[in-house]
Amino acid sequence: MDYIYVSTLSKNCDSNAIGDILSQSREHNKKSHITGLLSHNQTYFLQCLEGSRDAINDTYHHILNDQRHSNVSILYFKEIDCRSFGDWSMGDIPQSHLTTLLKLQFSGSEHFNPYKMSGESAYLMLLELKKNLPSE
Ligand SMILES: Cc1cc2nc3c(=O)[nH]c(=O)nc-3n(C[C@H](O)[C@H](O)[C@H](O)COP(=O)(O)O)c2cc1C
Repeated sequence: MDYIYVSTLSKNCDSNAIGDILSQSREHNKKSHITGLLSHNQTYFLQCLEGSRDAINDTYHHILNDQRHSNVSILYFKEIDCRSFGDWSMGDIPQSHLTTLLKLQFSGSEHFNPYKMSGESAYLMLLELKKNLPSE
């Protein structure tokens, strides 16, 4: 299953907190055979998770209750035959890459808002973001 959501960073979610999220995620995802990417800027997280339905549901419930972000909103959800992000237990997209791509997606609008993005374009955007990312 492929799953993409967007959320809003909590005020106290700084770079240390993001480092913790990544290390926790990698440790847990390896055990659960989950792969994916985490991208963020100063305001938003955009995350893709891939794995079995049970593993994704279980992890997603933890993520929903996590105080380090809020307003978690599903953008994309699909049964898949093969993984697109299998090289990463949780790939870390550099902040500047997300910001640049979001600006392109929403060119013409000064205040880009990933909550308004279609699921398909969120998926395509993550495929674009993985191109520059070395495998783990
Ligand atoms: C934006 C964001 C993304 C996260 N991604 C994952 C993830 O991919 N896998 C994971 O196990 N935990 C992830 N977490 C952390 C979980 O929310 C939770 O802290 C972790 O699973 C440990 O849960 P527990 O303390 O209830 O055992 C993420 C948290 C945030 C805020």
